Amino acid sequence: MRKKILAGNWKMNGDREEALSLATEIMGMVQDEYRGDAAVILFPSFVHLNAISRLVEPSNLMVGAQNCATHEAGAYTGEVSAKMIGSVGGQYVIIGHSERRSYFQETSSDLAAKVQQCLKASLKVIYCVGETLEQRENATHFEVIKEQLKSCLFHLEPSQWSQIVIAYEPVWAIGTGKTASADQAQEIHAFIRQCIADRFGQQLASDVSILYGGSCNETNAATLFNLKDVDGGLIGGASLKSRSFVNMLKALP
Ligand code: PGA
Repeated sequence: MRKKILAGNWKMNGDREEALSLATEIMGMVQDEYRGDAAVILFPSFVHLNAISRLVEPSNLMVGAQNCATHEAGAYTGEVSAKMIGSVGGQYVIIGHSERRSYFQETSSDLAAKVQQCLKASLKVIYCVGETLEQRENATHFEVIKEQLKSCLFHLEPSQWSQIVIAYEPVWAIGTGKTASADQAQEIHAFIRQCIADRFGQQLASDVSILYGGSCNETNAATLFNLKDVDGGLIGGASLKSRSFVNMLKALP
């Protein structure tokens, strides 16, 4: 049985005080209001990771990082290794977010190296895939997504897939207020699962959680989360509001 997950990608938002109070509010509401068994993962900035990890330790909430280095250790000024993330309580890392791919020119080989570093450090990965508007309009989106999966994940050992979660985030839906329709989301999620099944078999594919991300909010969450191949969400903007984020958690079936 695959896991339901609600992940909050805080991006570059919040000073220490704001980050701690957001995490405190979310933790309190989850404890008071949520009886389900979905995993809740908060992704603050690196500088808040240790503090938030300590704060949420008594709860079921988990924390992760939004990025990690391609190398294990050494003279890479400004970088943060997977092992360092694990050492401050991080359990997950987001790899391949479209903002990293486009603004920071991260290539498939960078991303494959980052995935490798996470697996080696016993961290789980939320690996993001998604097409641009232009790719969708050219009808190359299936190809693009398959290539994104193939280049970073298809060389893994089947056993390593227990550390992998996929997030489908159409680039045209991120932070734009445009969400994929239920049909569009289900179509791509089913396609992703089929690509994994073709390479690793049906059983493994049906155990992989595939999250939707891109302008997901309190209003559309229930529709998206009830789709057959959608196992939760990777939430940006709406994860910065504790009430909205926890309402989305409660929208998970
Ligand atoms: P958004 O971002 O929810 O603000 O569209 C999602 C993401 O980038 O993970």
